[in-house]
Amino acid sequence: MSILKVDNLCKNFGGVQAVNGLNFEINEGEIFGLIGPNGSGKSTTINVICGLYQPSEGSIFLNGKKINGFKPNQCVDMGISRTFQNIRLFGDLTVWQNLWVAWKDDRKNQGSWFSNWFGKSESREKLISELLSFSGLETRANDLASNLSFGEQRRLELARAVASKPKLIFLDEPAAGMNKEEVKELRDRIFRLRDLGITIFLVEHVMDLVMNVSNRITVLNFGKAISEGDPESVQNDKAVQEAYFGQ
Ligand SMILES: Nc1ncnc2c1ncn2[C@@H]1O[C@H](COP(=O)(O)OP(=O)(O)OP(=O)(O)O)[C@@H](O)[C@H]1O
Ligand SMILES: [Mg+2]
Repeated sequence: MSILKVDNLCKNFGGVQAVNGLNFEINEGEIFGLIGPNGSGKSTTINVICGLYQPSEGSIFLNGKKINGFKPNQCVDMGISRTFQNIRLFGDLTVWQNLWVAWKDDRKNQGSWFSNWFGKSESREKLISELLSFSGLETRANDLASNLSFGEQRRLELARAVASKPKLIFLDEPAAGMNKEEVKELRDRIFRLRDLGITIFLVEHVMDLVMNVSNRITVLNFGKAISEGDPESVQNDKAVQEAYFGQ
């Protein structure tokens, strides 16, 4: 079943057509990869879907419901969450507090994935402690987010995105700046979320990761999809190789 559909999505910034007539549909439980060279419109696509910007044209459907023009908090209420390309945490709050504020009281979602994880007795405290161990931050709970290492901040951002109990998570270059071991751990976390039934939208330059985890991939260049399909067919597509490496 389709969870997200975008239809002729466009976003202009003045004369720049950052996203230009994008169409795709993502199925529930899928890991969908969006790749493309720098400046090709990947983050803008996320920002438009998550309500940071209004689309210039086109439609966004979540579970068949049009969500154009929804504010970011309304998107969170609809079960969408995200991480940012440039980490955005509350630096002067502790790790625990960052998760506390992201938690969402959403009893109508009971019975979805998080009751498989947390059981029916899910409480805010229990969810936070589960997320601390999910992200390997148990010993950092009382430290300020600004005192975390870069890798720890990335882990906290992912945990925070999960704390709002989303059905669909957008990850904007979650592996940027990570070493091989950290990328492996991230991959396992992404699979864990997928296994819980969370749909994942992954923007990533680390090809090892995105080719490994994605069911399907769309490739952007200058705001347009130039290729789509399974990882193998996209990797072997001449148009993709040209977009990345030039003629
Ligand atoms: N808020 C904005 N105002 C003006 N132009 C913007 C804005 N956000 C993005 N752009 C422009 O839109 C285009 C697409 O940018 P975007 O950040 O979506 O690319 P990207 O694919 O995420 O690139 P990267 O891989 O470097 O993160 C670029 O030309 C960028 O300069
Ligand atoms: Mg980007």
